[in-house]
Amino acid sequence: MRLAINKNLPIPIYYQIEEGIKALIEQRELKPGDLIPSERELCEAYGISRMTVRQAVNNLVNDGYLVRQQGRGTFVSKGKMEQRLKGVTSFSEDMRARGMEPGTKLLSFERIQGSKSICEKFSVPEGTMIFEVKRVRLADGIPMAYEISYLPATLLPGFTLEVAEGSIYQFVENVLMLEIGNAHQVLEASLARGVECEILGLESGAPVLLIQRQTYLADGVPLEVVRSVYPGDRYKFVIDMQRTVS
Ligand code: GLP
Repeated sequence: MRLAINKNLPIPIYYQIEEGIKALIEQRELKPGDLIPSERELCEAYGISRMTVRQAVNNLVNDGYLVRQQGRGTFVSKGKMEQRLKGVTSFSEDMRARGMEPGTKLLSFERIQGSKSICEKFSVPEGTMIFEVKRVRLADGIPMAYEISYLPATLLPGFTLEVAEGSIYQFVENVLMLEIGNAHQVLEASLARGVECEILGLESGAPVLLIQRQTYLADGVPLEVVRSVYPGDRYKFVIDMQRTVS
């Protein structure tokens, strides 16, 4: 990778690095998935400070050109994954629709006595048995989301650890033969913290999208309450809208 850095120009160095890397990506000299030199290598190659390199790389990560993977390095982004907010789709379906292989790393699978706030969402008495499943969702082996799902135990006979390692929606529809109806979903911006950083390979404070979904069966019975954390640099959500004149 060769960047034209000119310290005599009245243009900040970090900006020159940023624009130089962007140009290489646009000219396809750097391709999606390529590993870029480490911050230390860039400092040495161009005789600039770590702070300057870091600022340029941070901006490119935040703008979605580069992706940092903890312990592996910084790569040219494969583009943000686009998800249309239409229809109640599962993670597995969303990834397959993009030609990627969905995967799951099961972090925990428990049958717990539901707290007041969770049980209220399912309209069941406090203490009712609820499955609590913590999963990292992968696309072609790359962590794309961290999900904590709650599902009422009585609704899901035969729900096991092995099932949770695959598609929950597929189990509900094809094994239990229940019909998934509709969902209510809330999206908000947040910052990665604590265990989420480690799980998704993000730095503390990195931008994330927090998504809370409550899904109902076709007969109106609540099926799941899910809190998902999506890295902001790997995802964008697209909404198609129709103007309705009232
Ligand atoms: C998405 C939704 C979750 C849902 C999951 C099911 O990730 N946000 O609410 O539980 O899909 O996916 P799968 O059927 O692959 O387990």
